[in-house]
Amino acid sequence: MGELKDRVRILGFACTVFGSVLLINGASPSLLIAQSKAGNPCAAKNPCAAKNPCAGKNPCAAKAVDPKLITRPAGTELVAGQQAELVKLGELLWKDTKLSTNGLSCETCHRGNASFSPSFAQPYPHPVAMVAEKAGLKQIHMDEMVQICMVVPMASKPLPWNSKELASLTAYVGRVQKGFAAEQTKKPAASNPCAPRNPCAPKNPCTPKK
Ligand code: HEC
Repeated sequence: MGELKDRVRILGFACTVFGSVLLINGASPSLLIAQSKAGNPCAAKNPCAAKNPCAGKNPCAAKAVDPKLITRPAGTELVAGQQAELVKLGELLWKDTKLSTNGLSCETCHRGNASFSPSFAQPYPHPVAMVAEKAGLKQIHMDEMVQICMVVPMASKPLPWNSKELASLTAYVGRVQKGFAAEQTKKPAASNPCAPRNPCAPKNPCTPKK
């Protein structure tokens, strides 16, 4: 049902966009068709073409990732900077939906330490289920974890390895990790073995809100 609603919304949006094009141009339909062939950006990016608008958001949707895309190339290092400044910029990026192509931000899934598995409390590099499943890698570094979340749940591209953005997000993730690790030691997993840790269950952004 949620999917259907999304489709209807997207269709409505497409009509609005197309309608405004009509208004702006005031052109005859035949001219419009000619234009759409020539290079109307709305034609190429027809949002109605997307099969399931939710598929990209679902981190569990089966989609393999080229491990090279998320592995830091040998010899490259994150941009150095003042830690406090990086963390500050990283926090802004963490909440920025413009980083994704599906309207999500890192914060959407990870607010209040949601969607993290206990593995996150371990020092990097370490194994992560999503990474093994999507990219076939046995373990991952923190900056690379940012990159796989950019590619898979954010349905976007990895950030340039030498960008301030990647350095900042990674710095901020470091701070989030500290908070998460502290929270984990405060309430040991054993205290609530039933706590849902399945990232696909309750936090799935595609799950329709009642
Ligand atoms: C659609 C939801 C979603 C979005 C959006 C998302 N993530 Fe994640 N992220 C997950 C899930 C699910 C996991 C758990 C993966 C696992 O443990 O197998 C995860 C795990 C992580 C981890 C911890 C991995 C570990 O070491 O255990 C980090 C760090 C992370 N994400 C960073 C980010 C960043 C940075 C962004 C934004 C660029 C982001 N995430 C956006 C769903 C999301």
